[in-house]
Amino acid sequence: MKNPEQITERLKDSLGKKRFIHSMGVCDTAVHLARKYGADEEKAYTAGLLHDCAKGMKIPEQLEKCAEYGLELDKHTMLCPPVIHAPLGAEMAKREYGVTDEEILDAIRRHTVGGSGMTLLDKIIYTADMIEPSRDFDGVERLREIAEQDIDTAFFESVKQSLIFNITENKPIHPDTLDSYNEAVSVK
Ligand SMILES: [Fe+2]
Ligand SMILES: [Fe+2]
Repeated sequence: MKNPEQITERLKDSLGKKRFIHSMGVCDTAVHLARKYGADEEKAYTAGLLHDCAKGMKIPEQLEKCAEYGLELDKHTMLCPPVIHAPLGAEMAKREYGVTDEEILDAIRRHTVGGSGMTLLDKIIYTADMIEPSRDFDGVERLREIAEQDIDTAFFESVKQSLIFNITENKPIHPDTLDSYNEAVSVK
């Protein structure tokens, strides 16, 4: 795997300034949550840093890259192209940044739509993506407070936030997000 300085340098070149700052924010927040809830801090660091590594490319370029990698996208992902950067990002993290740890790759793959059986690391990256310091939406402060109390509730509320946003914006819902919601709500 590339070392953290090499990863950071490359991300700085490939992501715009705003997204680079966001990625650093997710990384810091993910490490904080990992320490707090007993997840692996190094894995949280790498997954947080790289979670949006494919997002510097525009959608047509992302689709080309998927074809180059032979990465098949499900029909639900194709309905909502902004989601593509998550599975593509996991593949890029593996092939171009040398990440071999499947837990890190899964956390990157699931950071946008969630999925069934989310691990603690998956939940941390998903939640950190939602609450990192440069995020600014109605309700983000509340989510940040919940994240200091309980990661499962913070993840559940983050999924709800995402569902409500997509519905309000007339955007499709990926079934993996519904799996996350249904699993989280069933243990409430
Ligand atoms: Fe993302
Ligand atoms: Fe992100």
